[in-house]
Amino acid sequence: MTTESAAQGAIQQDYRDELHAEILEDLRVGEFGYKYRILDGVVMPPYITPSRYALSRSLDIRSDDVVCTSYPKSGTNWISNVILRLQHGGGVPEGKTLRDSMHWVASSYLYPRTKEDLDKAPSPRLFSSHMPYHMALGGDPRERPCRYVYVARNPKDVVVSYFHFEAGQSWSGHYSGSWSHWLQMFVDGKLQRGDWFHHVLSWWRRAEADNVHFVKYEDLTNDFHDELKRLARFLDVDLTDELAASIAEQTQFRTMKGDTFSDLHDAGELGHFYRKGVVGSWKERFTVHQSEWFDEIYRTRMSGTGLDFVFE
Ligand code: A3P
Repeated sequence: MTTESAAQGAIQQDYRDELHAEILEDLRVGEFGYKYRILDGVVMPPYITPSRYALSRSLDIRSDDVVCTSYPKSGTNWISNVILRLQHGGGVPEGKTLRDSMHWVASSYLYPRTKEDLDKAPSPRLFSSHMPYHMALGGDPRERPCRYVYVARNPKDVVVSYFHFEAGQSWSGHYSGSWSHWLQMFVDGKLQRGDWFHHVLSWWRRAEADNVHFVKYEDLTNDFHDELKRLARFLDVDLTDELAASIAEQTQFRTMKGDTFSDLHDAGELGHFYRKGVVGSWKERFTVHQSEWFDEIYRTRMSGTGLDFVFE
């Protein structure tokens, strides 16, 4: 199937290897059917393909591009909606949904982009990526004129949200393992997008760069207005009280879940993004023993990094 015909059919389709993996030979299947491929040493979903990844690394970047980057389930869609509205004076790109407004260049699934599509796309463009720093969209961020926004969330909420999102799905090979097996895969860096600690810290170490902005999901939840001001400053947007109030209203969980722009109805099988939207829902899954075990790993891996999260 050509890229064009896959693109036309992709929006309403569930993920299928034959349509979206592009190369079948390098797909791997782990325990409980978990499907993935390895790119640059990192576990990736089958729809992140070598050729699209290569395109994402070699893009013609513009100075007003924004690249939103995260580990999955960290609030990517939320912060992307905020960035888009800052880029568009409180509005959104005409005739588009949130998903279609975000250029996921490395992905062959849902609104796949060709180089020509991206060259034609009007500025300011918003790119989305779940890559660690060494695989950043656009190439080496130190040499790129665009801005990178990295959103991170406490890993206990991430791994629970990820379990709800990905277990049993076609792009994960209908993974059928238990919650405790999933948690172990997360700790071992075997989930798609790789090791959470490595991912987050790879960006945290560059958070002081002029073109990198690091934001935490928990701060967005607890202090939205201050975080919005910080983000607007980073993006050089003049944030009036009116604009801030409008963005706060349009990007709150309840609004995003119910709004046809942002409800992700067009994301097919990927579209169940709005679950709880709170800090601390990990408590519904972690046993006391798992929580203590994870806390010890967290302390060891985060020690001396200067980065910490709140968990409730
Ligand atoms: P939960 O599964 O814990 O509810 P991503 O966009 O990176 O896939 O992240 C999805 C997570 O962000 C989900 O977490 C989702 O509910 C939460 N989320 C999405 N929009 C949100 C919003 N406006 N406010 C708070 N949380 C939001």
